[in-house]
Amino acid sequence: MSSPGSSSLAAAGAHAAPAAGRYYRRFTRTERILHSVLMLTFVGCALTGLPLLFSDKPWATALARLLGGFEVAGAIHRICAFGMLAMFACHLVTLIRRGIANKSILGIVWGPDSMVPQPQDAIDLYKHVKWFLGRGPQPKFDRWTYWEKFDYWAVFWGMAIIGGSGLLLWFPVFFAKFLPGWMFNIAALVHGEEALLAVAFIFTIHFYNGHVRPERFPMDTVIFTGRISEHELKHERAVEYERLRREGRLAAYEAPPPTLEAQVWGWFVGGAALLLGIVAIVLIVYSLVH
Ligand code: HEM
Repeated sequence: MSSPGSSSLAAAGAHAAPAAGRYYRRFTRTERILHSVLMLTFVGCALTGLPLLFSDKPWATALARLLGGFEVAGAIHRICAFGMLAMFACHLVTLIRRGIANKSILGIVWGPDSMVPQPQDAIDLYKHVKWFLGRGPQPKFDRWTYWEKFDYWAVFWGMAIIGGSGLLLWFPVFFAKFLPGWMFNIAALVHGEEALLAVAFIFTIHFYNGHVRPERFPMDTVIFTGRISEHELKHERAVEYERLRREGRLAAYEAPPPTLEAQVWGWFVGGAALLLGIVAIVLIVYSLVH
């Protein structure tokens, strides 16, 4: 993230480092696959769910017709929903497996590799705001910044709420055996509203973090290639770089530079998602104000 002014331009220039040089692994293959499944299934759910939510709008009926009708859209929605829930379960399993492999279940909820917010995140946020206002130096970050953790938890709880309410809508006969009828009305309401919030959040804030902020413009492909250059690591994750260097663990993360194919693939998938996101936001805003 950057403040207005020359320092942000300097940061943007710094990001455009040559492809040669040292690279480090930031995401494992499993993490990259799970993120791709999440992207694909989220876009699938959004494309097939939004026509239901805005079924009185001409674009919604046109989109549903393009997908093969509302019934087919509902079927695709369930397939994507299943994929998304399976991805979520795999993510939880990988967290536990990592905790066991590192012999530290506590490491899942505490420490630099944890996504759980910690006091340092509040300090970083405070310093960042001060820097935005030109009242202090730019803070240095560790493996995860406070806004990356915010993105993660928005999706994590969103999964639980959208997934939970979606399962109620999917299997009403089963859940009606032990849940009162009003829960289904609430589930329908919560599912639609939370889905709208999730689409708005992912296609604006999350995409801003990945594509538009000065250090990343016009595209951050790290989630597709899994690699970060030494230059980026030193400048954008200075605390992590120093920590790994001090602990003598830097070499263990060294990796070959991303291939051209991986970079092109990242640009293609990221660009397609960005385009879809912009179209979705325009349609949603248009539908809400008309
Ligand atoms: C992850 C698990 C999910 C499950 C189990 C699930 C399940 C369902 C089901 C069963 C329906 C009713 C479909 C029909 O009537 O044919 C539905 C509707 C809908 N879903 Fe999902 N869904 C999930 C995720 C999502 C996601 C991620 C989004 C958006 C990004 C989404 C957006 C919607 C919308 C907008 C509707 C229409 C709601 C309405 O008509 O008020 N769903 N979902």
